[in-house]
Amino acid sequence: MKILEIVGDNYFGNWTKSRTGCRAVIIRDGKILMSYETKTDQWMLPGGGLEEDETEEECVVREIAEECGVVIRPSSCVLELDEYYEDCKWPNKYFLGEVIGETERHLTEREIEVGMEPRWIPLGEILSIFSTHAEYDGKDEMRRGMYYREYTALREILLSELPDAIREKVSGKDFRIDDLGKSGSKIFLFDDCVLKCEPRILENCPDADPAGVKAAPFLEDQDKTVEVMRYLKGKLPVPEVLAYEKDEKYRYLLMSRIPGKVACDSYYMEHPKEMIRVLSDALKLLWSVDISDCPRKQDLDAVLAEAKYRVEHGLVDVSDTEPETFGEGGFKDAEELLSWLMENKPSYEPVLTHGDFCLPNILIKNGKLSGFIDLGKTGTGDRWMDIALCYRSLKHNADGTWSGKVYPDIRPEVLFEELGIKPDWDRINYYILLDELF
Ligand SMILES: Nc1ncnc2c1ncn2[C@@H]1O[C@H](COP(=O)(O)OP(=O)(O)OP(=O)(O)O)[C@@H](O)[C@H]1O
Ligand SMILES: [Mg+2]
Repeated sequence: MKILEIVGDNYFGNWTKSRTGCRAVIIRDGKILMSYETKTDQWMLPGGGLEEDETEEECVVREIAEECGVVIRPSSCVLELDEYYEDCKWPNKYFLGEVIGETERHLTEREIEVGMEPRWIPLGEILSIFSTHAEYDGKDEMRRGMYYREYTALREILLSELPDAIREKVSGKDFRIDDLGKSGSKIFLFDDCVLKCEPRILENCPDADPAGVKAAPFLEDQDKTVEVMRYLKGKLPVPEVLAYEKDEKYRYLLMSRIPGKVACDSYYMEHPKEMIRVLSDALKLLWSVDISDCPRKQDLDAVLAEAKYRVEHGLVDVSDTEPETFGEGGFKDAEELLSWLMENKPSYEPVLTHGDFCLPNILIKNGKLSGFIDLGKTGTGDRWMDIALCYRSLKHNADGTWSGKVYPDIRPEVLFEELGIKPDWDRINYYILLDELF
């Protein structure tokens, strides 16, 4: 177990008082359990002071129960962080916690006064809140010290969970976490590289084994992503693979960072002519790649096979679809849509497809394409799949569906003009419907 030290400017050089605090890091579905003081707008990792007659593990279990009403099973201590201020040493012991039940909360008078409440908050968000520690310098020393401590501890613990080969490559680098994606992946953004940690199991899958998890066979096909990225090196602007590791729960892909901004960045949304020209250039560039030895097939039969698996295993979220797809005038359910897709396959124009050609996966720098990211579905497939997803992405990034902001100047049809093609609505609609099953 690692021991870190924070020595305050006001430390006397020796200490006479000490009290150990035990805190828990409890992460579920990308969110972390925090204690939030509603009256003072202050966040902290749940935990508290060790009492005389208890072990550190007992202390952390008791504190989380009292503060959050959550029963946890703690790991052994994963980090000790010792703070030195004036004549005090404050050892802080951190534990990972797994939720195993609920209980009644019991708050102290002070906690009631500050309106303490348990909150699950995305990891990336809490890290960025704690990263503001320096702003409290000279204004609120307590908060500055606490935010700095939790920032240091959380970053250390998150990195310590990574496989050795990955950790060695990123140790000492500053990072933030991006958790906007839908896939449940955790993304660490470093200055010059990006680490994508993708779950290998589907939690709470109806087809789950008794432990509540199910290894999904098609997810393993994602190993191919790395092969495809290596294959595309030198052919297209894609991230370079720096390391790739797996453990029981995650696949870890460390790659170079593509410079620039995502195509749905507000600058490009406000300059649609420039943005749509880049999207069109990006599509043409994909189609220019010789696909004769591409290591992954993403043709319609392969995509339909995966869709079938998802439908049969209850993995399709029908609430996250276009409003007209299901219900009155649309399909009854995912099974009916799948049958229709199987019976109405369009003819096939093979090219290299990105597979998830949406605005957040295309990066632009100084008005030019700087790269493609998120290549988990890239392979040989149909040209119209990318056109359809690009069109839908333009439409919904512009009409406020995804960001809440409306950009009335964006006309998605300009894409076809830039590409110099006539829209084939049957195919476009087919591929939009197919994507509803993912
Ligand atoms: N190699 C990279 N270079 C630059 N930025 C990256 C890179 N990889 C990821 N990012 C940033 O992280 C964000 C999320 O990454 P990515 O698109 O791979 O995952 P995701 O969208 O969360 O996953 P999914 O689409 O599978 O749900 C991107 O929108 C981008 O801002
Ligand atoms: Mg993405």
